[in-house]
Amino acid sequence: MRVGILTSGGDCQALNATMRGLVKALYQQRKDIEIIGFLKGYQGLMYEKYKKMSLSDFEDILNVGGTILGSSRCPFKKMRVIEDGFDKVEAMKKTYKKLKLDCLVVLGGNGSLKSANMLAQEGLNVIGLPKTIDNDTWGTDYTFGFQSAVDIATNYLNEIETTAKSHSRVFVVEIMGHKVGHICLQAGIAAGVDAILLPEIPYDIKVVAKKIKENQKTGKEYTIIACAEGAISEEDSLLSKKKYKAKVASRQGRSVAYEIAEQLQELIPNEIRVALAGHIQRGGNPCSYDRFMATRFGVYGANLLLNKDFGKLVVFDKNEIKAIPLSETAGKLKFVDPECEVVSSAKKMGITFGE
Ligand code: F6P
Repeated sequence: MRVGILTSGGDCQALNATMRGLVKALYQQRKDIEIIGFLKGYQGLMYEKYKKMSLSDFEDILNVGGTILGSSRCPFKKMRVIEDGFDKVEAMKKTYKKLKLDCLVVLGGNGSLKSANMLAQEGLNVIGLPKTIDNDTWGTDYTFGFQSAVDIATNYLNEIETTAKSHSRVFVVEIMGHKVGHICLQAGIAAGVDAILLPEIPYDIKVVAKKIKENQKTGKEYTIIACAEGAISEEDSLLSKKKYKAKVASRQGRSVAYEIAEQLQELIPNEIRVALAGHIQRGGNPCSYDRFMATRFGVYGANLLLNKDFGKLVVFDKNEIKAIPLSETAGKLKFVDPECEVVSSAKKMGITFGE
């Protein structure tokens, strides 16, 4: 049985742990397993860049961050674009057939899973495993990498706190998460910040400024604001999609945290600093929870494969590992529910969301 594996999109912790779970479970149950590892995500499949691998390649990688296969971003909207006569989809199908694969396992986030679904619709046997620190994949309560990122973001926020306290400063700390606020919400609560600004709950800067003043009145001279990279003001949330896109583009890659700091500075005299947690949130080795979950995801993926149950994404749903059709999740994001218990608990103990 020949199995192709690729890791696609932004990397995260526990990619290796997931592949290890999958491959070990396959070798345990079948003796005729051959693994083809495609290099740098879909590019490897397109351009026939791969290596033949064996069980030993996966033995000691449970605790190793990054991905032994490398990764790359292949935006879904460019997948079907034929450039200089090169048809990417046909090229991937050709490699799959040439190598006589029985299945392709894709470890990816939203865009990569959309592509995985497209390949499944094109007739390839595909299985998806939900990777991303953002935890924004629709249909699963958990994506591997998330907890490691939350742990790192929490430590980052706590380390900022000591210097913020010494200098009685306000810090706006930007946390990753793309269009959603899951990392920021959990890390913000775990780090005990004063304000959490999320894409899902547009903020009014006056409310954030009020929180800083209230802190001072109660003798707390510093304030930590955790803002998700997709945080949005009430004003911007009223813009059309097109106008908001143009506004984001006009920042030219400058983080939203700077804009928030500038808006705040117009309302308060305090010294304000910006800190960006950045890519360390995706770096380093997976935490134990991610290793645990990744192993389970991988083993379940192996089960699907051996049962020829293709076209599925392995998910974690209400404390259970299961599978859903790739077509169900493709193209959908899982946002923070502004009415959820986590948000309301945070509000009850004084964290403001700028509403
Ligand atoms: O999807 C993971 C993620 O880290 C997002 O949180 C972030 O928006 C994006 O990737 C950063 O991408 P890149 O590594 O391409 O800069």
